[in-house]
Amino acid sequence: MATDNNRFQAIISHCKEYGFIFQSSEIYDGLSAVYDYGQWGSELKKNIRDYWWKSMTQMHENIVGIDAAIFMHPTTWKASGHVDNFSDPMIDNKDSKKRYRVDHLLEAKADELEKEGKKAEADALLAEMDKLLAANDYDGLKKLIEDANIKCAISGTKNWTEVRQFNLMFSTQLGSVSEEASEIYLRPETAQGIFVNFLNVQKTGRMKIPFGIAQTGKAFRNEIVARQFIFRMREFEQMEMQFFIRPGSQKEWYEYWKEERMKWHLSLGIPKEKFRFHDHVKLAHYADAACDIEYEFPIGFKELEGIHSRTDFDLKNHQLYSKKKMQYFDPEINQNYIPYVLETSVGLDRTFMMVISEAYTEEDLSTADKQDSRVVLKLQPKLAPIKLAVLPLLKKDGLPEIAREIMNNCKSHFRCFYEEKDAIGRRYRRMDAIGTPFCVTIDHQTKEDGTVTIRHRDSMQQDRIPASQVRELVAKYLI
Ligand code: GAP
Repeated sequence: MATDNNRFQAIISHCKEYGFIFQSSEIYDGLSAVYDYGQWGSELKKNIRDYWWKSMTQMHENIVGIDAAIFMHPTTWKASGHVDNFSDPMIDNKDSKKRYRVDHLLEAKADELEKEGKKAEADALLAEMDKLLAANDYDGLKKLIEDANIKCAISGTKNWTEVRQFNLMFSTQLGSVSEEASEIYLRPETAQGIFVNFLNVQKTGRMKIPFGIAQTGKAFRNEIVARQFIFRMREFEQMEMQFFIRPGSQKEWYEYWKEERMKWHLSLGIPKEKFRFHDHVKLAHYADAACDIEYEFPIGFKELEGIHSRTDFDLKNHQLYSKKKMQYFDPEINQNYIPYVLETSVGLDRTFMMVISEAYTEEDLSTADKQDSRVVLKLQPKLAPIKLAVLPLLKKDGLPEIAREIMNNCKSHFRCFYEEKDAIGRRYRRMDAIGTPFCVTIDHQTKEDGTVTIRHRDSMQQDRIPASQVRELVAKYLI
Protein backbone atom coordinates (compact mmCIF):
# COMPACT_ATOMS: atom_id res chain seq x y z
CA MET A 1 0.00 0.00 0.00
CA ALA A 2 1.30 3.46 -0.88
CA THR A 3 1.89 5.89 2.00
CA ASP A 4 1.16 9.62 1.56
CA ASN A 5 4.78 10.19 0.57
CA ASN A 6 4.96 7.65 -2.19
CA ARG A 7 1.38 8.00 -3.42
CA PHE A 8 2.53 10.30 -6.22
CA GLN A 9 5.14 7.76 -7.37
CA ALA A 10 2.51 5.02 -7.21
CA ILE A 11 0.20 7.07 -9.48
CA ILE A 12 3.03 7.69 -11.98
CA SER A 13 3.86 3.95 -12.08
CA HIS A 14 0.18 3.06 -12.45
CA CYS A 15 -0.17 5.49 -15.37
CA LYS A 16 2.68 3.74 -17.13
CA GLU A 17 1.75 0.17 -16.29
CA TYR A 18 -1.84 0.56 -17.46
CA GLY A 19 -1.28 2.50 -20.69
CA PHE A 20 -2.19 6.02 -19.54
CA ILE A 21 1.09 7.92 -19.85
CA PHE A 22 4.53 7.05 -21.21
CA GLN A 23 7.74 9.04 -21.19
CA SER A 24 8.22 10.52 -24.68
CA SER A 25 10.73 8.63 -26.88
CA GLU A 26 11.33 6.21 -24.06
CA ILE A 27 13.40 3.81 -26.20
CA TYR A 28 15.97 6.63 -26.47
CA ASP A 29 15.86 7.16 -22.71
CA GLY A 30 13.11 9.75 -22.93
CA LEU A 31 12.94 13.48 -23.50
CA SER A 32 12.87 15.58 -20.39
CA ALA A 33 9.45 16.95 -19.40
CA VAL A 34 7.70 15.61 -22.50
CA TYR A 35 5.12 12.82 -22.21
CA ASP A 36 2.94 10.70 -24.49
CA TYR A 37 -0.59 9.63 -23.64
CA GLY A 38 -1.19 5.92 -24.20
CA GLN A 39 -4.31 4.03 -25.23
CA TRP A 40 -6.33 4.74 -22.08
CA GLY A 41 -4.69 8.05 -21.23
CA SER A 42 -5.66 9.53 -24.58
CA GLU A 43 -9.28 8.40 -24.07
CA LEU A 44 -9.41 9.93 -20.58
CA LYS A 45 -7.79 13.13 -21.81
CA LYS A 46 -10.24 13.36 -24.70
CA ASN A 47 -13.20 12.83 -22.35
CA ILE A 48 -12.00 15.65 -20.07
CA ARG A 49 -11.47 17.92 -23.09
CA ASP A 50 -14.92 17.07 -24.50
CA TYR A 51 -16.56 17.70 -21.14
CA TRP A 52 -14.90 21.14 -20.90
CA TRP A 53 -15.83 21.93 -24.51
CA LYS A 54 -19.46 20.98 -23.94
CA SER A 55 -19.63 22.97 -20.68
CA MET A 56 -18.22 26.04 -22.39
CA THR A 57 -19.91 26.00 -25.80
CA GLN A 58 -23.06 23.86 -25.67
CA MET A 59 -24.01 25.01 -22.17
CA HIS A 60 -23.32 28.74 -22.77
CA GLU A 61 -25.33 30.10 -25.67
CA ASN A 62 -22.99 33.08 -26.04
CA ILE A 63 -19.73 31.09 -26.32
CA VAL A 64 -18.44 29.55 -29.55
CA GLY A 65 -15.30 27.51 -30.16
CA ILE A 66 -12.46 27.79 -32.66
CA ASP A 67 -9.36 25.80 -33.55
CA ALA A 68 -6.53 28.16 -34.49
CA ALA A 69 -3.11 27.12 -35.81
CA ILE A 70 -0.10 26.70 -33.56
CA PHE A 71 2.06 28.80 -35.88
CA MET A 72 1.15 32.45 -35.95
CA HIS A 73 2.61 35.55 -37.57
CA PRO A 74 5.70 36.50 -35.52
CA THR A 75 4.34 40.00 -34.90
CA THR A 76 1.57 38.38 -32.83
CA TRP A 77 4.08 37.74 -30.07
CA LYS A 78 5.50 41.23 -30.22
CA ALA A 79 1.97 42.64 -29.86
CA SER A 80 1.03 40.23 -27.08
CA GLY A 81 4.10 41.23 -25.07
CA HIS A 82 5.55 37.72 -25.06
CA VAL A 83 8.76 38.69 -26.92
CA ASP A 84 9.57 41.32 -24.31
CA ASN A 85 7.91 40.00 -21.18
CA PHE A 86 7.43 36.25 -21.27
CA SER A 87 10.38 35.43 -19.13
CA ASP A 88 11.04 34.16 -15.67
CA PRO A 89 13.77 35.13 -13.24
CA MET A 90 16.35 32.34 -13.24
CA ILE A 91 19.48 31.61 -11.32
CA ASP A 92 22.31 29.21 -12.19
CA ASN A 93 24.43 27.18 -9.86
CA LYS A 94 28.03 27.85 -10.93
CA ASP A 95 29.28 24.40 -9.92
CA SER A 96 26.63 22.15 -11.46
CA LYS A 97 25.72 24.65 -14.25
CA LYS A 98 22.12 23.78 -13.49
CA ARG A 99 19.55 26.54 -14.05
CA TYR A 100 16.58 27.06 -11.73
CA ARG A 101 13.51 29.22 -11.75
CA VAL A 102 13.85 31.46 -8.72
CA ASP A 103 10.24 31.05 -7.57
CA HIS A 104 10.48 27.26 -7.84
CA LEU A 105 13.62 27.16 -5.69
CA LEU A 106 11.97 29.29 -3.02
CA GLU A 107 8.67 27.38 -3.15
CA ALA A 108 10.52 24.08 -2.74
CA LYS A 109 12.29 25.53 0.31
CA ALA A 110 8.94 26.69 1.73
CA ASP A 111 7.49 23.18 1.22
CA GLU A 112 10.48 21.74 3.05
CA LEU A 113 10.00 24.16 5.96
CA GLU A 114 6.30 23.36 6.14
CA LYS A 115 7.05 19.63 6.29
CA GLU A 116 9.41 20.34 9.20
CA GLY A 117 6.50 22.02 11.01
CA LYS A 118 7.85 25.56 10.43
CA LYS A 119 4.74 26.92 8.74
CA ALA A 120 5.21 30.53 9.88
CA GLU A 121 8.76 30.57 8.46
CA ALA A 122 7.51 29.07 5.18
CA ASP A 123 4.75 31.68 4.88
CA ALA A 124 7.17 34.50 5.61
CA LEU A 125 9.55 33.22 2.93
CA LEU A 126 6.77 33.10 0.31
CA ALA A 127 5.45 36.51 1.31
CA GLU A 128 8.94 38.02 0.92
CA MET A 129 9.35 36.25 -2.44
CA ASP A 130 6.02 37.67 -3.69
CA LYS A 131 7.08 41.16 -2.63
CA LEU A 132 10.47 40.94 -4.37
CA LEU A 133 8.99 39.40 -7.54
CA ALA A 134 6.37 42.15 -7.73
CA ALA A 135 9.14 44.75 -7.46
CA ASN A 136 11.42 42.94 -9.98
CA ASP A 137 14.08 43.11 -7.29
CA TYR A 138 16.60 40.54 -8.57
CA ASP A 139 19.36 41.40 -6.09
CA GLY A 140 16.81 40.97 -3.30
CA LEU A 141 15.75 37.57 -4.68
CA LYS A 142 19.35 36.36 -4.82
CA LYS A 143 19.88 37.49 -1.24
CA LEU A 144 16.68 35.71 -0.18
CA ILE A 145 17.95 32.46 -1.74
CA GLU A 146 21.27 32.83 0.05
CA ASP A 147 19.68 33.79 3.38
CA ALA A 148 17.31 30.80 3.15
CA ASN A 149 20.40 28.62 2.82
CA ILE A 150 19.19 27.05 -0.44
CA LYS A 151 21.61 24.62 -2.04
CA CYS A 152 21.71 23.20 -5.56
CA ALA A 153 20.24 19.68 -5.54
CA ILE A 154 23.06 18.44 -7.80
CA SER A 155 26.27 20.11 -6.60
CA GLY A 156 25.06 20.66 -3.04
CA THR A 157 26.68 24.13 -3.09
CA LYS A 158 25.36 27.68 -2.66
CA ASN A 159 27.56 29.09 -5.41
CA TRP A 160 24.88 31.08 -7.28
CA THR A 161 25.04 33.47 -10.26
CA GLU A 162 23.07 36.71 -10.41
CA VAL A 163 19.32 36.39 -11.05
CA ARG A 164 18.47 36.99 -14.74
CA GLN A 165 15.41 36.85 -16.99
CA PHE A 166 15.05 34.11 -19.68
CA ASN A 167 12.39 34.02 -22.38
CA LEU A 168 10.35 30.82 -22.37
CA MET A 169 9.24 30.73 -26.02
CA PHE A 170 10.52 28.09 -28.45
CA SER A 171 11.43 29.40 -31.87
CA THR A 172 11.85 27.68 -35.23
CA GLN A 173 12.26 28.57 -38.91
CA LEU A 174 9.39 28.89 -41.34
CA GLY A 175 10.44 28.40 -44.98
CA SER A 176 12.47 25.81 -46.84
CA VAL A 177 15.57 27.80 -47.74
CA SER A 178 17.51 29.11 -44.81
CA GLU A 179 18.09 32.59 -46.35
CA GLU A 180 14.37 33.02 -46.90
CA ALA A 181 13.27 31.48 -43.66
CA SER A 182 11.82 33.68 -40.97
CA GLU A 183 11.92 32.97 -37.28
CA ILE A 184 8.57 32.07 -35.79
CA TYR A 185 7.49 30.82 -32.38
CA LEU A 186 5.59 27.82 -31.16
CA ARG A 187 2.65 29.43 -29.36
CA PRO A 188 3.20 29.68 -25.58
CA GLU A 189 -0.57 30.07 -25.01
CA THR A 190 -3.62 29.38 -27.17
CA ALA A 191 -5.21 32.72 -26.26
CA GLN A 192 -3.60 34.75 -29.06
CA GLY A 193 -5.25 32.59 -31.73
CA ILE A 194 -8.54 33.79 -30.25
CA PHE A 195 -7.58 37.47 -30.12
CA VAL A 196 -6.42 37.64 -33.74
CA ASN A 197 -9.72 36.01 -34.78
CA PHE A 198 -11.89 38.21 -32.59
CA LEU A 199 -13.36 40.22 -35.48
CA ASN A 200 -13.70 37.20 -37.80
CA VAL A 201 -15.81 35.37 -35.23
CA GLN A 202 -17.73 38.43 -34.04
CA LYS A 203 -18.72 39.41 -37.57
CA THR A 204 -19.36 35.97 -39.13
CA GLY A 205 -21.11 34.71 -35.99
CA ARG A 206 -23.01 38.01 -35.47
CA MET A 207 -21.92 37.82 -31.85
CA LYS A 208 -23.09 40.46 -29.39
CA ILE A 209 -21.12 41.49 -26.35
CA PRO A 210 -20.85 39.85 -23.85
CA PHE A 211 -19.69 36.74 -25.71
CA GLY A 212 -16.88 34.22 -25.49
CA ILE A 213 -14.55 32.29 -27.77
CA ALA A 214 -13.23 28.96 -26.50
CA GLN A 215 -10.34 26.88 -27.74
CA THR A 216 -8.33 23.84 -26.72
CA GLY A 217 -4.88 23.05 -28.05
CA LYS A 218 -1.17 22.62 -27.59
CA ALA A 219 1.08 25.27 -26.11
CA PHE A 220 4.86 25.18 -25.74
CA ARG A 221 7.16 26.66 -23.12
CA ASN A 222 10.83 26.09 -22.57
CA GLU A 223 10.32 25.48 -18.86
CA ILE A 224 13.62 25.45 -17.05
CA VAL A 225 12.56 23.41 -14.09
CA ALA A 226 10.19 21.00 -15.77
CA ARG A 227 9.49 18.05 -13.54
CA GLN A 228 6.73 16.65 -11.36
CA PHE A 229 5.42 14.41 -14.13
CA ILE A 230 2.77 16.03 -16.35
CA PHE A 231 2.35 18.98 -13.99
CA ARG A 232 4.94 21.11 -15.76
CA MET A 233 5.82 20.11 -19.29
CA ARG A 234 7.46 21.74 -22.27
CA GLU A 235 4.62 20.72 -24.57
CA PHE A 236 1.19 20.75 -22.98
CA GLU A 237 -2.44 21.43 -23.73
CA GLN A 238 -4.61 24.32 -22.62
CA MET A 239 -8.37 24.82 -22.54
CA GLU A 240 -8.90 28.56 -22.74
CA MET A 241 -11.86 30.88 -23.10
CA GLN A 242 -11.73 34.61 -23.76
CA PHE A 243 -14.91 36.43 -22.76
CA PHE A 244 -15.37 39.81 -24.47
CA ILE A 245 -17.12 42.41 -22.35
CA ARG A 246 -17.94 46.09 -22.08
CA PRO A 247 -15.11 48.15 -20.49
CA GLY A 248 -15.93 48.82 -16.85
CA SER A 249 -17.79 45.54 -16.31
CA GLN A 250 -14.64 43.47 -15.71
CA LYS A 251 -14.97 43.21 -11.92
CA GLU A 252 -18.44 41.67 -12.17
CA TRP A 253 -17.39 39.21 -14.85
CA TYR A 254 -14.22 38.33 -12.96
CA GLU A 255 -16.34 37.25 -9.98
CA TYR A 256 -18.80 35.46 -12.27
CA TRP A 257 -16.13 33.38 -13.99
CA LYS A 258 -14.32 32.59 -10.75
CA GLU A 259 -17.52 31.07 -9.41
CA GLU A 260 -18.48 29.40 -12.68
CA ARG A 261 -15.10 27.71 -13.07
CA MET A 262 -15.07 26.55 -9.46
CA LYS A 263 -18.49 24.97 -10.04
CA TRP A 264 -17.08 23.14 -13.07
CA HIS A 265 -14.25 21.62 -11.02
CA LEU A 266 -16.69 20.60 -8.30
CA SER A 267 -18.88 18.96 -10.95
CA LEU A 268 -16.04 16.47 -11.43
CA GLY A 269 -17.03 15.11 -8.04
CA ILE A 270 -13.98 16.48 -6.23
CA PRO A 271 -14.53 17.74 -2.64
CA LYS A 272 -14.57 21.51 -2.06
CA GLU A 273 -11.75 21.43 0.45
CA LYS A 274 -9.33 20.21 -2.24
CA PHE A 275 -9.57 23.61 -3.99
CA ARG A 276 -8.63 27.13 -3.07
CA PHE A 277 -8.22 30.49 -4.81
CA HIS A 278 -4.85 32.17 -4.83
CA ASP A 279 -4.76 35.87 -5.82
CA HIS A 280 -1.76 36.92 -7.90
CA VAL A 281 0.50 39.45 -6.25
CA LYS A 282 2.71 39.97 -9.29
CA LEU A 283 0.29 40.44 -12.18
CA ALA A 284 1.17 39.24 -15.69
CA HIS A 285 1.92 42.02 -18.17
CA TYR A 286 -1.64 41.92 -19.53
CA ALA A 287 -3.78 41.71 -16.37
CA ASP A 288 -5.50 44.13 -13.97
CA ALA A 289 -6.65 41.29 -11.69
CA ALA A 290 -5.80 37.60 -11.66
CA CYS A 291 -6.08 34.53 -9.51
CA ASP A 292 -5.43 30.82 -9.72
CA ILE A 293 -7.69 27.98 -8.79
CA GLU A 294 -5.36 25.67 -6.91
CA TYR A 295 -5.97 21.98 -6.32
CA GLU A 296 -4.33 19.87 -3.65
CA PHE A 297 -2.25 17.52 -5.83
CA PRO A 298 -0.32 14.72 -4.12
CA ILE A 299 2.61 17.19 -4.33
CA GLY A 300 0.63 19.88 -2.46
CA PHE A 301 -1.64 22.78 -3.42
CA LYS A 302 -0.65 23.94 -6.91
CA GLU A 303 -2.06 26.03 -9.76
CA LEU A 304 -4.65 24.29 -11.90
CA GLU A 305 -6.36 27.18 -13.68
CA GLY A 306 -5.82 30.89 -14.12
CA ILE A 307 -8.65 33.46 -14.20
CA HIS A 308 -7.35 36.70 -15.65
CA SER A 309 -8.92 40.08 -16.23
CA ARG A 310 -6.87 40.98 -19.33
CA THR A 311 -8.39 44.47 -19.90
CA ASP A 312 -8.14 45.59 -23.55
CA PHE A 313 -4.40 44.91 -23.53
CA ASP A 314 -4.35 42.26 -26.26
CA LEU A 315 -6.90 43.70 -28.70
CA LYS A 316 -5.45 47.19 -28.31
CA ASN A 317 -1.96 45.97 -29.08
CA HIS A 318 -3.09 43.88 -32.04
CA GLN A 319 -4.83 46.98 -33.37
CA LEU A 320 -1.62 48.96 -32.88
CA TYR A 321 0.68 46.41 -34.55
CA SER A 322 -1.67 45.25 -37.34
CA LYS A 323 -3.20 48.67 -38.02
CA LYS A 324 -6.57 46.89 -38.24
CA LYS A 325 -9.44 48.21 -36.15
CA MET A 326 -10.37 45.88 -33.29
CA GLN A 327 -13.46 47.83 -32.32
CA TYR A 328 -16.93 46.69 -31.62
CA PHE A 329 -20.05 48.79 -32.12
CA ASP A 330 -22.34 48.32 -29.14
CA PRO A 331 -25.90 49.04 -30.33
CA GLU A 332 -27.25 49.14 -26.78
CA ILE A 333 -25.18 52.17 -25.82
CA ASN A 334 -24.55 53.41 -29.36
CA GLN A 335 -20.75 53.39 -28.90
CA ASN A 336 -17.62 51.98 -30.48
CA TYR A 337 -15.03 50.52 -28.16
CA ILE A 338 -12.29 47.91 -27.87
CA PRO A 339 -13.79 45.21 -25.64
CA TYR A 340 -12.26 44.17 -22.35
CA VAL A 341 -11.50 40.49 -21.85
CA LEU A 342 -12.00 38.01 -19.05
CA GLU A 343 -9.96 34.85 -19.54
CA THR A 344 -10.30 31.40 -18.06
CA SER A 345 -7.27 29.21 -18.77
CA VAL A 346 -6.97 25.67 -17.47
CA GLY A 347 -4.28 23.11 -18.26
CA LEU A 348 -5.72 19.90 -19.71
CA ASP A 349 -2.75 17.87 -18.49
CA ARG A 350 -3.07 19.32 -14.99
CA THR A 351 -6.80 18.54 -15.01
CA PHE A 352 -5.89 14.99 -16.08
CA MET A 353 -3.40 14.78 -13.21
CA MET A 354 -6.04 16.04 -10.79
CA VAL A 355 -8.69 13.59 -12.05
CA ILE A 356 -6.37 10.59 -11.89
CA SER A 357 -4.94 11.58 -8.48
CA GLU A 358 -8.44 11.88 -7.12
CA ALA A 359 -9.56 8.57 -8.65
CA TYR A 360 -6.53 6.45 -7.68
CA THR A 361 -7.56 4.24 -4.76
CA GLU A 362 -5.79 1.34 -3.10
CA GLU A 363 -8.19 -0.95 -1.27
CA ASP A 364 -7.43 -3.66 1.21
CA LEU A 365 -9.86 -6.52 0.60
CA SER A 366 -8.28 -9.03 2.97
CA THR A 367 -10.50 -11.41 4.88
CA ALA A 368 -9.70 -13.55 7.93
CA ASP A 369 -8.25 -16.30 5.75
CA LYS A 370 -7.02 -14.46 2.66
CA GLN A 371 -4.83 -11.43 1.95
CA ASP A 372 -6.18 -9.41 -0.96
CA SER A 373 -6.09 -5.88 -2.32
CA ARG A 374 -6.93 -3.98 -5.46
CA VAL A 375 -6.08 -0.70 -7.16
CA VAL A 376 -9.16 0.94 -8.60
CA LEU A 377 -9.56 4.20 -10.50
CA LYS A 378 -12.83 5.64 -9.24
CA LEU A 379 -13.35 7.80 -12.32
CA GLN A 380 -16.71 9.36 -13.05
CA PRO A 381 -18.32 7.16 -15.74
CA LYS A 382 -18.50 10.12 -18.14
CA LEU A 383 -14.69 10.44 -17.97
CA ALA A 384 -13.71 6.76 -17.84
CA PRO A 385 -11.78 5.55 -20.94
CA ILE A 386 -13.99 2.46 -21.23
CA LYS A 387 -17.59 2.47 -20.03
CA LEU A 388 -18.40 -1.22 -20.29
CA ALA A 389 -16.33 -4.41 -20.39
CA VAL A 390 -18.08 -7.36 -22.02
CA LEU A 391 -16.80 -10.61 -20.54
CA PRO A 392 -18.02 -14.08 -21.50
CA LEU A 393 -17.30 -16.41 -18.57
CA LEU A 394 -15.95 -19.10 -20.90
CA LYS A 395 -14.57 -19.12 -24.43
CA LYS A 396 -17.05 -21.82 -25.46
CA ASP A 397 -20.66 -23.10 -25.21
CA GLY A 398 -22.01 -20.18 -27.27
CA LEU A 399 -21.13 -17.59 -24.58
CA PRO A 400 -18.79 -15.53 -26.81
CA GLU A 401 -21.54 -15.27 -29.43
CA ILE A 402 -24.00 -13.78 -26.92
CA ALA A 403 -21.27 -11.47 -25.61
CA ARG A 404 -20.58 -10.28 -29.17
CA GLU A 405 -24.27 -9.45 -29.57
CA ILE A 406 -24.17 -7.26 -26.44
CA MET A 407 -20.95 -5.68 -27.70
CA ASN A 408 -22.54 -4.88 -31.07
CA ASN A 409 -25.61 -3.45 -29.40
CA CYS A 410 -23.55 -1.09 -27.22
CA LYS A 411 -20.36 -0.13 -29.04
CA SER A 412 -21.80 2.58 -31.23
CA HIS A 413 -23.26 4.27 -28.12
CA PHE A 414 -20.22 4.28 -25.83
CA ARG A 415 -16.71 2.83 -25.60
CA CYS A 416 -16.79 -0.90 -24.85
CA PHE A 417 -14.06 -3.47 -24.38
CA TYR A 418 -14.34 -7.19 -25.14
CA GLU A 419 -12.21 -9.77 -23.35
CA GLU A 420 -12.48 -13.53 -22.98
CA LYS A 421 -9.00 -14.42 -21.71
CA ASP A 422 -8.12 -15.26 -18.05
CA ALA A 423 -10.18 -15.98 -14.95
CA ILE A 424 -13.06 -13.58 -14.45
CA GLY A 425 -11.60 -12.19 -11.19
CA ARG A 426 -8.39 -11.15 -12.95
CA ARG A 427 -10.35 -9.55 -15.75
CA TYR A 428 -12.38 -7.54 -13.20
CA ARG A 429 -9.18 -6.33 -11.54
CA ARG A 430 -7.70 -5.17 -14.84
CA MET A 431 -10.88 -3.22 -15.55
CA ASP A 432 -10.82 -1.71 -12.02
CA ALA A 433 -7.25 -0.57 -12.63
CA ILE A 434 -8.24 1.46 -15.70
CA GLY A 435 -11.46 2.74 -14.15
CA THR A 436 -14.11 0.85 -16.17
CA PRO A 437 -17.35 1.53 -14.25
CA PHE A 438 -19.29 -1.55 -15.48
CA CYS A 439 -18.45 -5.12 -16.40
CA VAL A 440 -21.07 -7.42 -17.86
CA THR A 441 -20.54 -11.17 -17.54
CA ILE A 442 -22.25 -13.71 -19.76
CA ASP A 443 -22.60 -17.21 -18.29
CA HIS A 444 -24.64 -20.39 -18.76
CA GLN A 445 -27.69 -18.90 -17.07
CA THR A 446 -27.71 -16.23 -19.82
CA LYS A 447 -28.47 -19.00 -22.30
CA GLU A 448 -31.40 -20.14 -20.22
CA ASP A 449 -33.11 -16.89 -19.19
CA GLY A 450 -31.35 -14.08 -21.12
CA THR A 451 -29.97 -12.42 -17.95
CA VAL A 452 -26.39 -11.31 -17.35
CA THR A 453 -24.36 -10.17 -14.33
CA ILE A 454 -23.58 -6.49 -14.21
CA ARG A 455 -20.75 -5.59 -11.85
CA HIS A 456 -20.38 -2.09 -10.40
CA ARG A 457 -16.72 -1.06 -10.14
CA ASP A 458 -16.74 0.91 -6.87
CA SER A 459 -19.03 -1.25 -4.74
CA MET A 460 -18.11 -4.48 -6.58
CA GLN A 461 -21.80 -5.29 -6.25
CA GLN A 462 -23.14 -7.71 -8.85
CA ASP A 463 -26.75 -7.63 -10.08
CA ARG A 464 -28.57 -9.96 -12.40
CA ILE A 465 -30.40 -8.03 -15.15
CA PRO A 466 -31.81 -8.86 -18.59
CA ALA A 467 -29.10 -8.54 -21.28
CA SER A 468 -31.46 -6.26 -23.19
CA GLN A 469 -31.21 -3.63 -20.37
CA VAL A 470 -27.41 -3.32 -20.28
CA ARG A 471 -27.11 -0.50 -22.79
CA GLU A 472 -29.77 1.62 -21.13
CA LEU A 473 -28.30 1.10 -17.65
CA VAL A 474 -24.78 2.16 -18.65
CA ALA A 475 -25.99 5.12 -20.77
CA LYS A 476 -27.88 6.49 -17.75
CA TYR A 477 -24.55 7.08 -15.97
CA LEU A 478 -22.88 8.91 -18.85
CA ILE A 479 -24.81 12.19 -18.81
N1 GAP B 1 -3.41 32.44 -21.50
C1 GAP B 1 -3.07 32.55 -20.15
C2 GAP B 1 -2.09 31.57 -19.71
O1 GAP B 1 -1.50 30.88 -20.52
P1 GAP B 1 -0.95 30.56 -17.57
O2 GAP B 1 -1.31 30.75 -16.11
O3 GAP B 1 0.45 30.81 -17.97
O4 GAP B 1 -1.96 31.51 -18.36
C3 GAP B 1 -2.68 28.64 -17.86
O5 GAP B 1 -1.35 29.08 -18.01
C4 GAP B 1 -2.72 27.19 -17.41
O6 GAP B 1 -1.95 26.38 -18.31
C5 GAP B 1 -2.08 26.94 -16.05
O7 GAP B 1 -2.99 27.22 -15.00
C6 GAP B 1 -1.72 25.47 -16.13
O8 GAP B 1 -2.85 24.67 -15.83
C7 GAP B 1 -1.38 25.30 -17.60
N2 GAP B 1 0.09 25.30 -17.77
C8 GAP B 1 0.90 26.37 -17.86
N3 GAP B 1 2.18 25.99 -18.04
C9 GAP B 1 2.17 24.64 -18.06
C10 GAP B 1 3.18 23.64 -18.22
N4 GAP B 1 4.46 23.97 -18.42
N5 GAP B 1 2.83 22.33 -18.19
C11 GAP B 1 1.53 21.98 -18.01
N6 GAP B 1 0.53 22.88 -17.87
C12 GAP B 1 0.83 24.19 -17.89
